[in-house]
Amino acid sequence: MERLPIEFRPMTLGDIPAVLQVEQASFTTPWTRQAFYNELAYNQFAQYMVVEKEGRVIGYCGMWLILNEAHITNIAIHPDYRGRGIGEMMIDGMMALAREAGADSMTLEVRVSNAIAQQLYRKKGFEMTGIRPRYYTDNQEDAMIMWAKLDGGSDEADREVLGAGY
Ligand SMILES: CC(C)(COP(=O)(O)OP(=O)(O)OC[C@H]1O[C@@H](n2cnc3c(N)ncnc32)[C@H](O)[C@@H]1OP(=O)(O)O)[C@@H](O)C(=O)NCCC(=O)NCCS
Repeated sequence: MERLPIEFRPMTLGDIPAVLQVEQASFTTPWTRQAFYNELAYNQFAQYMVVEKEGRVIGYCGMWLILNEAHITNIAIHPDYRGRGIGEMMIDGMMALAREAGADSMTLEVRVSNAIAQQLYRKKGFEMTGIRPRYYTDNQEDAMIMWAKLDGGSDEADREVLGAGY
């Protein structure tokens, strides 16, 4: 695929307004400004990244890194930029960062109705391990719990994904 001129970098407090736009365009119960602020300012286990194209934040992803496990908390790509491989690139980047931090597995929850995200996760090696009944409070929808092993990468491939800054 043609390389996109996009940057993958840590989210800052200044990114929150742009991140909220993507969040609100992506979810029925979007996270609030305060939720992102708390994650960035106070959660020592959290790592949030954005993808930026021509100065515009077009996607983001966050995870909690706890010992050898990485837990994806949130991922979204702006609707105008979906279907171009950027979500996959973000997952590759998060997996590389998690491996670098010593994690050997990654988990997440996804709505049982979110077939597109599930497709992306399966492509990246996630498998369903269980269900959290009525996990989503807006419509009582179940969450699918997915796990992936992080042993697929090499140092060289990870450096390529993360770029020179890492
Ligand atoms: C899920 C999401 C992040 C994917 O981002 P994206 O940049 O559009 O995805 P990519 O273009 O990198 O696609 C990667 C893979 O995802 C799957 N995928 C993406 N769009 C798809 C679609 N419309 N239909 C089916 N599968 C799709 C495919 O497996 C695809 O690989 P392929 O191109 O080889 O078929 C994006 O759709 C999004 O932001 N959705 C709203 C927020 C959300 O649901 N987040 C997940 C919460 S758990």
